[in-house]
Amino acid sequence: MAAPTILVTGGAGFIGSNFIRYLLAETDVRIVNLDALTYAGNLASLADCLDSERHLFVRGSITSADLVAYLLKQHAVDGIINFAAESHVDRSILGPKVFVETNVQGTLTLLSAAREAGVRRFLQVSTDEVYGSLGDQGFFTEETPLSPNSPYSASKASADLLVRAFHHTFGLDTVTTRCSNNYGPYQFPEKLIPLIIMNARQNKALPVYGDGLNVRDWLYVGDHCSAIWTAFSKGRAGAVYNIGGNSERTNLDVIRTILQQVGKPESLITFVKDRPGHDRRYAIDASRIQAELGWRPAVDFETAMARTVRWYLDHQPWLDQVASGDYQTYYQTLYGNRGRA
Ligand code: NAD
Ligand code: DAU
Repeated sequence: MAAPTILVTGGAGFIGSNFIRYLLAETDVRIVNLDALTYAGNLASLADCLDSERHLFVRGSITSADLVAYLLKQHAVDGIINFAAESHVDRSILGPKVFVETNVQGTLTLLSAAREAGVRRFLQVSTDEVYGSLGDQGFFTEETPLSPNSPYSASKASADLLVRAFHHTFGLDTVTTRCSNNYGPYQFPEKLIPLIIMNARQNKALPVYGDGLNVRDWLYVGDHCSAIWTAFSKGRAGAVYNIGGNSERTNLDVIRTILQQVGKPESLITFVKDRPGHDRRYAIDASRIQAELGWRPAVDFETAMARTVRWYLDHQPWLDQVASGDYQTYYQTLYGNRGRA
């Protein structure tokens, strides 16, 4: 039987580019990679994948119904894995509209096209942020009610509900994964970990929102990729799977770990005004994907963080390239207004 063809959307972003690399190394699937190349998408993140005859890159938007329908038909696509999104909470506070256009309308466009073309499986890459915020105790399970707090998480939760509806009403074979915070190579330096590495390296202030004691449950991006492929290949139709690595850390813990690894002083830490609506704590119960599908993370936080810091120190040209353009304007708009706490 011929190897399946998968439409991967958002494959020039952080997780998507790691996932393309994972598919090329670990499977024989053929990939059509649809990405609009927004500020967050970068072909430099795929430099070693562009020559593969199993990987076709197409620049375009998931909101273009005609283009999506054409690609599904032209390449006889068997499955869709939807990473494409506006992904940064702070940007969703500055301007929510594009989050609805891409994350909600774009997902609807893909679901409708998948149904029309008879695509065999649709996987929605979602986030633990759809569950809202936890207190000191407890974990998000797949039964935790959706309670999104930011425009970003509200748009992701809306997309999840559309995926659910297409399964329930139209019988589309869907799987939804909800993962905790990722870190690793090729993450855009608006997100905490690459931003801190980049600023520390340049002896710039390290902006910490609020008291720095918000907790995130960190997972290495390679482990997220293996979980998505496991859920796509073996998951139950209609199911939701939480993905996480039991690595809760406060933001200050994460920043101190980075400072030790780059050999910079804690005096760079600068407390700034908090993010509006800042979720306090995320923590994932990933027992369903572990028990049903046998997935486990392969690396622990300390090992993978050391690998990640090393990667950014060794890939300064990549950082310089993605942090040029409108990044400086964005940085000034966000952090210029925040001041010191
Ligand atoms: P990212 O911002 O790095 O990448 C997003 C990609 O989508 C970019 O390549 C961008 O060009 C592309 N894109 C944006 N709008 C598009 C459109 N209209 N059409 C086609 N492509 C478009 O994001 P990421 O961190 O890699 O996240 C990928 C997915 O994983 C998102 O759906 C996000 O919600 C989800 N997720 C992320 C994390 C995390 O920690 N980063 C955790 C859980 C889930
Ligand atoms: O939980 C999964 C989510 O993780 C994904 O769905 C999102 O796409 C992804 O961006 C991420 O969201 P967060 O808001 O948790 O990630 P971010 O890197 O923006 O922030 C992590 C924590 O660090 C958060 O508590 C806010 C804080 N922070 C962030 C930045 C950028 C700071 O203190 N200072 C900063 O400059």
